[in-house]
Amino acid sequence: MPNLALVTGANKGIGLEIVRQLAAKDWRVFLTGRSRSQVMDAAASLGPSVTPIVLDVTSISSIESAFRTVSQETDHLDVLVNNAAIADDDDGSVFDLPAERLHRMFETNTIGPLLMIQAFLPLLRSSQSGRIINVSSGAGQLSELGTWAPAYSISKTALNGVTNQFASALTGENIPVNSVCPGWVRTDMGGSDAPRSVEQGADTIVWLATEAPQSMTGQFVKDRKAIPW
Ligand SMILES: NC(=O)c1ccc[n+]([C@@H]2O[C@H](COP(=O)([O-])OP(=O)(O)OC[C@H]3O[C@@H](n4cnc5c(N)ncnc54)[C@H](OP(=O)(O)O)[C@@H]3O)[C@@H](O)[C@H]2O)c1
Repeated sequence: MPNLALVTGANKGIGLEIVRQLAAKDWRVFLTGRSRSQVMDAAASLGPSVTPIVLDVTSISSIESAFRTVSQETDHLDVLVNNAAIADDDDGSVFDLPAERLHRMFETNTIGPLLMIQAFLPLLRSSQSGRIINVSSGAGQLSELGTWAPAYSISKTALNGVTNQFASALTGENIPVNSVCPGWVRTDMGGSDAPRSVEQGADTIVWLATEAPQSMTGQFVKDRKAIPW
């Protein structure tokens, strides 16, 4: 029986690369994204071990529908990667940050992952070694001062709070929950000047999914090492 993972926002960028690397390790992967045609095309490019599913993390009905689809295919899930995110306020200032922008950013980057964990916990609990990985960002690191992209950064700080809460709540169940900073990566979000390739950006996430000790939980991880929150 192959290992099973679900990755959100996987039609492109780091998410697609995570799926590619897991599939190359003979994992079965649910490649999810909000555009039907894009998830179909992306999955088709990776072969039969990759199953496309339409999933918008801001929609509870979409999350529930994806859960039903996955539940029809398997009785457990080994890894959930909350990768989907938006970032469109790198020109913004916290002095005039509109509440609407913060709401929008939280919906995708913070509340989406929280709802995904809640929804998929029954399948993760049925795994022998369930794992949850939240793709965060150094932009949300409280140990560094910063003014860049305030709505995005605050949403990622809050995502780290989601990681902390679930890691604590799941300690007794042997389900590690960690945040990852992939570094600055060349994707639509990161732009072409970023120093890291998608392969480098996905590395720590795939390591946490496949090789990291099951006991490693409640950490903010970059380049396979814990970093300050
Ligand atoms: N790139 C970097 O330098 C960098 C640095 C630090 C952290 N990160 C983090 O790494 C992760 C991946 O980023 P990336 O660079 O690969 O970004 P990307 O290329 O922009 O991809 C983002 C993915 O998220 C999806 N998405 C957005 N809203 C969604 C929603 N409501 N429901 C489901 N999927 C949704 C996008 O789908 P559509 O195609 O439909 O828009 C896309 O598949 C993100 O969590 C990001 O914050 C990236």
